[in-house]
Amino acid sequence: MSKTAKVAQLRLDRLLANMGYGSRREIGLLTGAGLVVLDGVPLHDAGQRIPVTPDLATRMTVDGAPLDPPPGLTLLLHKPLGVTCSHKEAGALVYALLPERWRRRDPALSTVGRLDKETSGLLLLTDDGALLHRIISPKANVAKRYQVSLDRPLRGDESAILASGTLMLEGEEKPLLPVEMEIQAATRVAVTLHEGRYHQVRRMFAAMGNHVLSLHRDRVGGLALPVDLAAGDFRVMTDSDIGAVFASGAAA
Ligand code: URA
Repeated sequence: MSKTAKVAQLRLDRLLANMGYGSRREIGLLTGAGLVVLDGVPLHDAGQRIPVTPDLATRMTVDGAPLDPPPGLTLLLHKPLGVTCSHKEAGALVYALLPERWRRRDPALSTVGRLDKETSGLLLLTDDGALLHRIISPKANVAKRYQVSLDRPLRGDESAILASGTLMLEGEEKPLLPVEMEIQAATRVAVTLHEGRYHQVRRMFAAMGNHVLSLHRDRVGGLALPVDLAAGDFRVMTDSDIGAVFASGAAA
């Protein structure tokens, strides 16, 4: 749960229905059968109010299984190539990588910004609208780092152009904010962005006469994509992970 979220109290049937466990009538059937248990005690009154604390998942079971993480859920996901950050476009969607029930949650999980279909790497998702806006707000200056492989060897002037804060993207009226570039090989670089324009990395290399072959985001703010998290897998973020997103030293 983010630090900004307050502990809400919700009717048990509303809470579970909002978490995708069924209609309020179906939740009534579950509680009637003694299948919703809190701290070892079956809850028979679906109308009783429950404080929605982050530890609820460790204290409540539904039909014998631990409760899903309650609202205030933030995830880090290793986005694979070929999936789209959208709730409704055709084709493979990033939300299909989550448990089926989670797709019925209200508030819904949304991606924090987007990665292109053909970009892999660290993607955050949250159902906490205030947190989402805090992360994407220019005031927070959450830097994002991308590992880039290029079609052609670097010319030599790219770092200076990107650092200058003068590069214009086609069709835009404001130059890009300065971008840091670290050279790893003639056709491999890491870039750290302080804003997020549409297809920014691909377009900025196109503006310098090159072409991006592959793009992978490995860091958002001070939070790195865990090396042991396979493509397609996700983790629930802790408060300390969320703090790391806002920590400075993002380009480290
Ligand atoms: N820049 C891009 O071009 N694509 C992304 O997915 C992210 C940044």
